[in-house]
Amino acid sequence: MQQPKVSLDKNYWDKRYKTSDFGWDLGEISPPLKAYFDTLQNKNLKILIPGAGNAYEAEYLFNKGFKQVYSCDFARSALNNLKQRCPDFPESHLLEGDFFELQEKGFDLIIEQTFFCAINPALRKKYVEKMHELLKDGGRLVGLLFDDVLNSDVPPFGGSAAEYKPLFDTRFAPLRFEPCTNSVQPRAGRELFIEMLKKT
Ligand SMILES: C[S@@+](CC[C@H](N)C(=O)[O-])C[C@H]1O[C@@H](n2cnc3c(N)ncnc32)[C@H](O)[C@@H]1O
Repeated sequence: MQQPKVSLDKNYWDKRYKTSDFGWDLGEISPPLKAYFDTLQNKNLKILIPGAGNAYEAEYLFNKGFKQVYSCDFARSALNNLKQRCPDFPESHLLEGDFFELQEKGFDLIIEQTFFCAINPALRKKYVEKMHELLKDGGRLVGLLFDDVLNSDVPPFGGSAAEYKPLFDTRFAPLRFEPCTNSVQPRAGRELFIEMLKKT
């Protein structure tokens, strides 16, 4: 079992933004998510991006006219970066705090990107339960998971489709759970694209 050697708390993550120690940051919206967002017609969808970091995905959606977009992160620095690039993004949609303690519910869509791999692997079952709780009936969890072993002591923590599938099957019906074909180059061949429907 992978075990973090550091406490993955607010201070840990905030410090990584403050010291520009964020190798995961693409500096732009990730191509698979952009392609997915471009298929969405309903601008009224209530969308959550947990562990959003610098949140290029939230910025893209907001600028496209999706006004019910929420960005959740432990790190105030990351939320501030979004607000700086996107001053009209509502302060009330910047959810500073622990995803596992989130009270805002009723999302149509939750977006995953390098958040699952950032949490302690011991919390993965809790992650699935919390995603289920935050989504409306008929809601979907969509995004990317690493299909790679990665690290065992510090994030990112990896895994495989075979490992993830039974975990999500308890609460979600997979609509897509497949190798991602349009990953950003350094992640090519190492990501799964998932689209999972909340089970009721
Ligand atoms: C690896 S980064 C990914 C950021 C962003 N998704 C991206 O792709 O650039 C993980 C993010 O999750 C946040 N995070 C980790 N655990 C969290 C938690 N329990 N609640 C809220 N945010 C958390 C960190 O602050 C960090 O911004």
